[in-house]
Amino acid sequence: MSKPSVLVAEELSPAGIALLEEDFDVHRADGADRSQLLPALADVDAVVVRSATTIDAEALDAAPNLKVVARAGVGLDNVDVDAATKAGVLVVNAPTSNIISAAEQAVNLMLATSRNTAPAHNALVNGEWKRSKYTGVELYDKTVGIVGLGRIGALVAQRLSAFGTKLIAYDPFVQPVRAAQMGVELVSLDEVMERSDFITVHLPKNKDTIGLISDDAFSKAKPNLRIINAARGGILDEDALYRALKEGKVAGAGIDVWTNEPCTDSPLFEFESVVVAPHLGASTEEAQEKAGTQVARSVKLALSGEFVPDA
Ligand code: MLT
Repeated sequence: MSKPSVLVAEELSPAGIALLEEDFDVHRADGADRSQLLPALADVDAVVVRSATTIDAEALDAAPNLKVVARAGVGLDNVDVDAATKAGVLVVNAPTSNIISAAEQAVNLMLATSRNTAPAHNALVNGEWKRSKYTGVELYDKTVGIVGLGRIGALVAQRLSAFGTKLIAYDPFVQPVRAAQMGVELVSLDEVMERSDFITVHLPKNKDTIGLISDDAFSKAKPNLRIINAARGGILDEDALYRALKEGKVAGAGIDVWTNEPCTDSPLFEFESVVVAPHLGASTEEAQEKAGTQVARSVKLALSGEFVPDA
């Protein structure tokens, strides 16, 4: 009897691939390229993706034997979970695999933004020794607003408390008592905008969160706000951020995720005060190892008809 077939549509850790190869025929395709993805889905039992592959109704239609969509990461915004469920396809992810890496990336961008790390580096390697131009600000004693106090937001709070920051957060799904246990004061989004020196976004992307940080939100921002988005592109409206930077309402930003990815050109690139990255929040050796092995185990369980627990 032939082995079930698994399509790995994006980069997956060698440990994850090795686990899959124990039981399955493993095929590769570039999931970001629909002309490769759709035919490659034709007779697979499972597909493994990260964030560059969209599994929507069209992709599900192209995969009549599909039983599992496995997302090697946290977010499920690139998978149409309702359409998959209607088609009888199980969707699994690796919900804790990269939360530490994502939290560290947010803190990394916050520090880089506060100390002008990227422009100072660029100036120096171009032969310019500019100390006063790149004077920064401390995190100590500053108010940091965390928008989304879930798993990643909580890890960010834990890490930032070591810097002596005052922590406030907006999250309609968290109880004030739970936030207080983390040393965080729960407030409205308006209050986060009004009181924060730094804001960091840690929400999933969905119809309620797209465009949440908009012109209206920036109009309430405390002067010299620095804002970080290592969650999902589009939660923070990039055009609104551009205007807020241009008008001097916002002093800096750290942007890891983009409305349209890959993004290799953006009006935000014109600002020295904006440090950017190509969606690297989950891109650490540790997170990729965990994501790869967690989803490989889930695919094995699912294709052998067993219960798939939350990782
Ligand atoms: C996630 O949702 O966990 C990450 O965005 C995964 C990735 O980097 O592809």
